[in-house]
Amino acid sequence: MPLPHVLLSAAVSLDGYLDDTGPERLLLSGPADFDRVDEVRASVDAILVGAGTIRADNPRLLVNSAERRAARVAAGEAEYPLKVTVSGSGELDPAARFWHTGGEKVLLTTDDGARRARGLGIAADVVSLGEVLDWRTALEYLHDRRGVRRLMVEGGGTVHSQLLQRELADELQLVLAPLLVGDPAAPRLFGPGAYQGGRLRLIETRRIEDVVLMRYLPTAPGAGERVAAADRHWLGLACELAELCPPSDTAFSVGAVVVAADGSELARGFSREGGDPVVHAEEAALAKVDPEDPRLARATVYSSLEPCARRASRPAPCARLILDAGVRRVVTAWREPDTFVAGADGSGVLTAHGAVVVVPAGYEERAKAPNRHLEG
Ligand SMILES: NC(=O)c1ccc[n+]([C@@H]2O[C@H](COP(=O)([O-])OP(=O)(O)OC[C@H]3O[C@@H](n4cnc5c(N)ncnc54)[C@H](OP(=O)(O)O)[C@@H]3O)[C@@H](O)[C@H]2O)c1
Repeated sequence: MPLPHVLLSAAVSLDGYLDDTGPERLLLSGPADFDRVDEVRASVDAILVGAGTIRADNPRLLVNSAERRAARVAAGEAEYPLKVTVSGSGELDPAARFWHTGGEKVLLTTDDGARRARGLGIAADVVSLGEVLDWRTALEYLHDRRGVRRLMVEGGGTVHSQLLQRELADELQLVLAPLLVGDPAAPRLFGPGAYQGGRLRLIETRRIEDVVLMRYLPTAPGAGERVAAADRHWLGLACELAELCPPSDTAFSVGAVVVAADGSELARGFSREGGDPVVHAEEAALAKVDPEDPRLARATVYSSLEPCARRASRPAPCARLILDAGVRRVVTAWREPDTFVAGADGSGVLTAHGAVVVVPAGYEERAKAPNRHLEG
């Protein structure tokens, strides 16, 4: 199921806190960064905070710039992004500013929480997602029922931690503020729990007055059929690599990446790379990995086109090369059409030998783009 692009946004002290324990909200960044946040808000379909942030900060969560709101309206969007909060308890203050400012609001909650919130007269669409609130269900609801394609999550720590641990965060935008809180009772950005091993990818740093914005992408692949946010990034990279292929009228242009379970990239490749007129993308990538590398057993191969099942140019098709390398998870954008081989079914070969093949929605057109000239 397609999900919104989920962007986690927070400002944090040097010692990792989101706030102190005082009655007023701790201001971690300055006017220029608040304006940047306003710009990001104006670019999304919805903004989400947890009930804890509404209780602690009583935020409005508006796009403050009139020009940005006007630009949204001119583009056919609502003046304000949809405001979303999550609460299991439904224990919320009906007078909180969140409900009485901006545009549409949704409270995503449980059956019990919905009863309580309706009883309190919360001025929002109160939506129960069942006995418990499952984040994937919540994101599917926002995507399918509310048309949310880009979701900005503005905290607090409980919500950020859960979304990152469940591999549902596509991007982190963290602002590091030059102050220390030092109070163990204060809320932390990320709480204890199971996060991806390995490293996230740093994609930008930017000085804004005396704070630093850091943007990260999660990198660890999902497991089995479960698609993690990082799977979408790696598949997007495979599609980008396909654009690098020397053109051909007799073979597809394909990109591939091999990624370890902790999110380290092991190798990448593309069709006809390095002057080899018949090399396939997965083959080119796997040739760069030591066959004895123990990480291959838990690695994922991303390929813009389903690995081939049969080929005339070399003895082993890519599905076989992947299996022989010990890889048991493949994420691909596009099932192979009958252009060169009728009834090619690389996925069938892979799954028949115990591998999992995942085809996330929304990447097929990108994979096809460098192959348009082959369409008959
Ligand atoms: N510096 C920053 O950028 C920034 C940004 C935002 C917030 N903050 C700070 O963060 C603090 C609040 O953080 P927090 O961790 O206490 O609260 P939070 O993450 O805003 O909200 C937590 C609440 O959300 C609901 N919730 C979250 N996950 C749920 C799930 N899976 N199922 C059901 N309900 C769920 C629960 O509400 P119920 O309890 O109602 O069930 C839970 O208590 C405040 O001090 C605030 O100032 C800082």
